[in-house]
This record gives sequence, C-alpha cells and structure tokens, in this order.
Amino acid sequence: MKNETDPVTITPCPDGPLLVRGDFLIAPAPGREPEAPGRRVVALCRCGKSGIPPMCDGSHKLVGFRAPAPEAAPEDSPRSD
Ligand code: FES
Repeated sequence: MKNETDPVTITPCPDGPLLVRGDFLIAPAPGREPEAPGRRVVALCRCGKSGIPPMCDGSHKLVGFRAPAPEAAPEDSPRSD
C-alpha cells in the first residue's frame, strides 16, 4: 500500500523560527481550534516574543534573537529514537 503523505521535516532557521513542512497537525490547546489546518508549511516561534504564538510573526528580528548553536552529535553515538 502506498503512503500518500509527505514526511514531516522541521528545519531551524538561523536565529529564527522552526520551519515545519509536510503533512502535519498542530494539536490545539483545549477548547481551541487547530492551528493552521491544511497548511503545508508553517514557521513556529522559538524566540518566545511572537504576538501570534505558536507562529512566528517576525518579532525575532526586532528583539535580536540568537539561537544557540546546534550541538554536534558524535558520529558513532546511537540514536535514541
Ligand atoms: S521566532 Fe519569529 S517571532 Fe519568535
């Protein structure tokens, strides 16, 4: 049986949001509608300053957000998933 869904990828933008691409659903908070239903790409805030959380509204540029450098995984370490 062929899988008709696209894999989901999450890509951190340098000093900016996380870009989520693919077939995904952002679970809503209790009593709220789902976020971005039907969207194939969203930018999720990781600076904590967005006026429309959980989405990025560009505020990271105004506050000079700097993302921590990603840690390099040792090549021989086992994956934990
Ligand atoms: S990452 Fe863009 S507003 Fe927070």
